[in-house]
Amino acid sequence: MSVRKSEGGSVADKVSENPYLSPDYLKHIVLDLMQMQEFMREPLVMSRAEGVWYEDVLGKKYLDGISGIFVVNVGHNNRRVVEAIKAQLDKLCFAPPLHATNTAAVELAKLISEVTPGDLDTVKLLSGGSEATEAAMKLARQYHKQTGNPNKYKVISRYHSFHGATMGALSATGTTRRKVVFEPTLTGYIHVFPPTCYRCPYGKQYPSCDVLCATIVEDVIRNEGSETVSSFITEPIGNTGGIITPPPEYLPILREICDEHNVLLIFDEIITGFGRTGNMFAAQTFNTLPDVLCMGKGMASGYAPLAAIAFRDHVAKAFWGWEEDRVEFSHGHTFGGNPVSSTAGIACIKEILEKDLCGRARMMGAYLWKRLEELKGLRVIGEIRGKGLLIGVEFVKDVETREPFGEEVRFGVQVGRTALKKGLIMRYDPNWVAFAPPLVVEREEIDLMTDIFSESVEEVLSRVPR
Ligand SMILES: Cc1ncc(COP(=O)(O)O)c(C=O)c1O
Repeated sequence: MSVRKSEGGSVADKVSENPYLSPDYLKHIVLDLMQMQEFMREPLVMSRAEGVWYEDVLGKKYLDGISGIFVVNVGHNNRRVVEAIKAQLDKLCFAPPLHATNTAAVELAKLISEVTPGDLDTVKLLSGGSEATEAAMKLARQYHKQTGNPNKYKVISRYHSFHGATMGALSATGTTRRKVVFEPTLTGYIHVFPPTCYRCPYGKQYPSCDVLCATIVEDVIRNEGSETVSSFITEPIGNTGGIITPPPEYLPILREICDEHNVLLIFDEIITGFGRTGNMFAAQTFNTLPDVLCMGKGMASGYAPLAAIAFRDHVAKAFWGWEEDRVEFSHGHTFGGNPVSSTAGIACIKEILEKDLCGRARMMGAYLWKRLEELKGLRVIGEIRGKGLLIGVEFVKDVETREPFGEEVRFGVQVGRTALKKGLIMRYDPNWVAFAPPLVVEREEIDLMTDIFSESVEEVLSRVPR
């Protein structure tokens, strides 16, 4: 194994000497979705990163198999981005949002209008993914209010989805375990089943199913009363359910249904945007144009907090295209369009375009897929799915019957934790894991990742009875 280890001195010595690993320091911080006592038993504190490698405070290196968390598309320590930010810091760090915008924000909005498909030409800049999905759903409601349909307020979304942590985004979210502790969430949010073809909730098989999971949305809209439904929000590829990848007809069918019922189709491309699926946006990968596209994460690759929504001309017209009764979008956040974040976004988008990172995502994604296919001999990989450099692996106890491992086994979690100890960071869940390395990843690094992954699977298999 060529993952580099920390040099010199015992690990125990280094841990006891390092203040960042001591409970005295760590007891003051709360991490995302993490039980802190558990975290403190084996804390991981990063200190630097380069390319697809992280280094922790003890000097141990980790392969970043998940781009931080689907964020660092251009790779760590990209000098173009860092230098651009430094130059902006010397010029302007904050503009007065109620009075003005700034040169970087204007340039970024124009650039986004150029790289998004179709007429997604109007952009609201924000700072995080939850802000983006909230803004999109609020935009849809206000749009209908001022275009003669004031009763259209309901939002349809999917089970197993994640749209963010704030209350509106969480209400659209369909991942039970992230919601229950905060329930009741908002009213007017309806959920439908996503296209989990490997385990169809309707007991059907693709393609003889005629993509029922998409066509049924029309029945849902009719039953809710189409005069009450404002928007349908979906991730083109769902992360939390295990990289749920739709068949090619799925999103175009949703598009038709939404058109038929004057429901705005919102794509949550917080993860799938900026080259991840092999095109700038998954809207292009699946050849479907949403009315509103939410973006974040890879937009500034983590160099600064940045997100946005882009919306189409017919939506924008309701806000500033009318001669009379022009109404502003009644929404805003202090840090939206921040000049430093916007500069980071411009540099990242230019990097993606000039280095053809979309092409690289396709090429390296195909290579990663091939390496994972080779591991099917381990007889626990039920399905590999995804697009570009967003790939999920679902584990099964029996590849013929698709029987999953028992819930108590948490096979994927065991694999993920074992891999972490061996120096690979992946996204893991009880039944699946995901790979989404920076788009600059090299073949040798993919080889290293899949080697560690297969060793980890074998190690867990040796502990788990079948
Ligand atoms: C698909 C999707 N939408 C929205 C969000 C929320 O983004 P943020 O954490 O930046 O608020 C996330 C975060 O993981 C996400 O994966």
